[in-house]
Amino acid sequence: MNLMRYGIVGTGYFGAELARVAAALPEGAVTRVYSPEHAIPLAQEVGAQVAADALEVCIADDVEAVIVASPNDVHVEPALAAAAAGKHVFCEKPVALSYADAASMVGAARTAGVTFMAGHVTQFMHGVREARRRIADGEIGRLLVAQAARTGWEPPAEQVSWKKMRERSGGHLFHHIHELDLVLAVMGAAERVVMSGGNLAHRGAGHGDEDDVLLAVLEHEDGSRSQLQWGSAYRWPEHHVTFQGTLGAIRVDLQDVGVTMRTERGTTTWPLHSSWAEDAERREEYAAASGGGGVTYGAPGARPPGWLRRIMREELEWFEDVVAGRLEPERALAGLTDGQAALTSIATAEALTISLAEDRKVSTAEVSG
Ligand SMILES: NC(=O)c1ccc[n+]([C@@H]2O[C@H](COP(=O)([O-])OP(=O)(O)OC[C@H]3O[C@@H](n4cnc5c(N)ncnc54)[C@H](O)[C@@H]3O)[C@@H](O)[C@H]2O)c1
Repeated sequence: MNLMRYGIVGTGYFGAELARVAAALPEGAVTRVYSPEHAIPLAQEVGAQVAADALEVCIADDVEAVIVASPNDVHVEPALAAAAAGKHVFCEKPVALSYADAASMVGAARTAGVTFMAGHVTQFMHGVREARRRIADGEIGRLLVAQAARTGWEPPAEQVSWKKMRERSGGHLFHHIHELDLVLAVMGAAERVVMSGGNLAHRGAGHGDEDDVLLAVLEHEDGSRSQLQWGSAYRWPEHHVTFQGTLGAIRVDLQDVGVTMRTERGTTTWPLHSSWAEDAERREEYAAASGGGGVTYGAPGARPPGWLRRIMREELEWFEDVVAGRLEPERALAGLTDGQAALTSIATAEALTISLAEDRKVSTAEVSG
């Protein structure tokens, strides 16, 4: 049995749980952790050493893989350092806040011959994988349009998180890149994009500086279209991704949790997560979040819910299988480790950002060349 020894960079809400998950894997151990805050109790819990800085984690001899779970604006340096030191990298989403950074991370991993995996949890949801199998089998015909919404209402916060600061998180578009990533994975790359939006109701004390309304339209290479919206200015929260084809439609509902397919032959439903019980857990969690579950954020010290912990475990098991060469990646998930999901989602998000700033339709080739 080969042991995969992990180093963790960033041990807040998500990094701490990824460390627990990694330490509990049959072939996993966590040997080094670094975080300016929250590192010591986590190190004690998982039996790791506290490193003096991120670089120490990335170059340590007793680390084979580095999990990057620091704030979004500080992913690139540890990912590059880890790859340069020959370590595999599991990088939280959004992998970067610019296409140039994402491309340098994917390129560094390719050059070093190590695996670089983007932590795009939505692609691991069982119900999403089933939806993609059915779409690939032609059950809803030729895809015409996708719609996605991740919206809700945020009250002022006592302490404004980095997640609300555009420079640090990239705002809703980058921080909640999951919906964009899923739409691109199913509909194919976007050729041209346009976005409108702004900060309409979240200015001043208790708020960050991100836009609270974002309305995006994508034109895909095959002529199909997508329409996505994100934001915290919505008193009627929504969270779904819906695919409309010539023969039917599939709605991935992340709020009233479950997946539904409608065709002329009738309606079929299946769980979004690994069981109806996990779906019920998420439904209750969303119902308890007054502003909407899609705009509720984890904080250091909190534990992710069970449905999310399961996905985190499946992600890291998949990562270990890919690193060990045990797995012929299911085609639908191959984009997570071949750079495609990381690059197309960040290129599209950057093109959308330019569109908003410059008030024009933008070709993604302008960003990715
Ligand atoms: N896939 C998902 O569903 C999901 C969910 C939550 C968070 N995330 C991602 O995980 C990452 C961390 O988010 P979080 O919710 O844990 O945030 P958090 O604020 O809870 O934790 C961030 C941690 O990073 C540490 N940190 C700050 N600056 C650092 C630096 N320069 N180097 C290393 N560590 C640093 C902080 O001390 C803190 O411990 C983000 O990229 C976020 O987008 C993903």
